[in-house]
Amino acid sequence: MKSLNTLQEFTPLTPLNHPLFDEKAIQVWIKRDDLNHPTIQGNKLHKLKYNLAEAGQLGKKSLLTFGGAYSNHIAATAAAGYSYGFKTIGFIRGDELANQPEKWSPTLQTAYQNGMQLHFLNRMDYRQKTRAHFFQQLQQQFPDSYILPEGGTNNLAIQGFEELSQQLAMQCPDWTHLYSAVGTGGTLAGLIKFSAFFCNQPRHILGVATLKQASYLIPTIEQLSGVRHNQQGLAQWQLLLDYCGQGYGKENSEIYATRKWFEEQFDIPLDPVYTNKMIYGFLEQLATGNIPPGSKVILYHSGGLQGRSPEKQI
Ligand SMILES: Cc1ncc(COP(=O)(O)O)c(C=O)c1O
Repeated sequence: MKSLNTLQEFTPLTPLNHPLFDEKAIQVWIKRDDLNHPTIQGNKLHKLKYNLAEAGQLGKKSLLTFGGAYSNHIAATAAAGYSYGFKTIGFIRGDELANQPEKWSPTLQTAYQNGMQLHFLNRMDYRQKTRAHFFQQLQQQFPDSYILPEGGTNNLAIQGFEELSQQLAMQCPDWTHLYSAVGTGGTLAGLIKFSAFFCNQPRHILGVATLKQASYLIPTIEQLSGVRHNQQGLAQWQLLLDYCGQGYGKENSEIYATRKWFEEQFDIPLDPVYTNKMIYGFLEQLATGNIPPGSKVILYHSGGLQGRSPEKQI
């Protein structure tokens, strides 16, 4: 079994030069966490690191978690189990896939190849996953399992963003704006929590929601980060709700064009579910004058490139 200490990578903060940014008198960098690990990529590495250590300490033999057929979290958990000596069990949304492996997404196929035992739940049962009695039943049924929530967001996942925030503070001590994609809100919460520790001037942390009507995430992010939405202070954060197109996993023509434009201009790949919307949100905010001249902006590349299968490029 590999050591968990290998789960720590210093990734580049790459400057992005473009006349658009010169015109607005801002500086822009992208934090290349898509390069932090070949199979447990981006934000997943930070979210899983302390959870894997905890699972090991508790003597658990397997990791059990939940996700959709294209979930980066499912892919990363299966890969982490394979690399670090845990069995993995995935509860997947959609029982129509149970007996049709030929219809499995590349994500599910790879997870299966990495040894993940797949259980398919119908959508109604899947919704039970956050209920206490369902959790207790699962824990009884799988006593050797360490249970991770959907998306991997919990307090130990948040802790994983301390090192990332430290890296950012070292690489660009006076950054003013940080853009990150939001699914369950854990990544944003981690960035908010630790950004304030490494600065003495206000920072703006902007989460671009990738799903519709995502304001329900605000209390969770407040609770996990310990910082109120829009509160004045060293780490001021906001959840941006207007850049998710038609909703989760859907890439409308504008967002698709933005992704293609970005990839062509900077030769950096984006994923079609998360980082595409983060970039779109940033560019729209820049166009509408929300980023003042003199700002130093970091775009967080949270990975997700395993989802770039032809099937998913809508
Ligand atoms: C590549 C990528 N970026 C960003 C996110 C959003 O992270 P979170 O669920 O912590 O908000 C996810 C989803 O989990 C993801 O897979």
